[in-house]
Amino acid sequence: MTTKRLFAGLLAGVFVSGVAVAAEPRGVANISLEERLGTVMQDTKAAEAAARAGKKVSFFCANCHGEGGNSVKPDIPNLAGQNPAYLLEQVKKFSDGRRRNDFMQGMIKAMSDEEKVSAVVYFASQEVKPHPVTNPALASHGKELFYKICWRCHGEQGRGNEKIARLAGQQPEYLILSLKRYRDATGERIDPSMAANTKNLSDADINSLAAFVSGMK
Ligand code: HEC
Ligand code: HEC
Repeated sequence: MTTKRLFAGLLAGVFVSGVAVAAEPRGVANISLEERLGTVMQDTKAAEAAARAGKKVSFFCANCHGEGGNSVKPDIPNLAGQNPAYLLEQVKKFSDGRRRNDFMQGMIKAMSDEEKVSAVVYFASQEVKPHPVTNPALASHGKELFYKICWRCHGEQGRGNEKIARLAGQQPEYLILSLKRYRDATGERIDPSMAANTKNLSDADINSLAAFVSGMK
């Protein structure tokens, strides 16, 4: 066990005992995470209750992902405004090792299904704060690339959908890091469509894309 993993484990213990959310309702033990989310999202009252429970869970996440999921650390993603199904899919990828990050993998192992679903419902309900564009020349090349390559999946406004991440307003450093990981197949994140769509991007293209999409609303 590495020190980092041990640290994650310890924090996860604090997390679970500190902010444990409502006990498992009866009869839902064998329901998949997607089904749980689907059931919650179909019912306004259930969605509101989940968001309230998720807000409690989010106190711990806020150390890194910021208040209401608006990260203040440039290399840590905002969770605010993401599609809940996309967030849940990433949670699953961390749990089964398809996505690698020591801390996130350790922490998610310690969360109940209820906590996972309520956390994503809460973060998805929060508004993302966009970053004002600081380098318009850089962003303008990024805009060209975005409307040539990216928009057909991520949407004209960069807001994504159930399967595809919202990019609008995302942290610029995190965007750069993620794009390079897909392009260079470093192993932290593997996705065939992202690998194909980043393979011809230069580092300068990636910087431009990050400058543009982080400023989208
Ligand atoms: C110690 C810091 C830390 C804490 C605390 C933390 N995270 Fe993370 N989280 C990260 C980092 C770093 C990443 C980016 C991982 C990578 O490199 O891809 C991440 C990524 C994620 C992602 C993927 C987002 C995306 O856009 O794909 C989700 C979902 C997530 N975290 C949920 C949570 C939840 C829910 C909590 C609280 C229960 C939490 N995190 C607590 C550091 C943290
Ligand atoms: C064919 C569809 C497709 C195209 C085109 C595409 N993407 Fe993606 N993108 C995806 C999918 C699917 C994911 C989620 C992959 C995963 O789970 O890791 C994703 C994830 C991402 C992420 C990670 C976001 C996060 O919150 O962690 C970034 C950044 C990204 N795409 C940027 C881009 C950019 C910039 C372009 C254009 C150069 C682009 N994508 C083109 C499908 C696409």
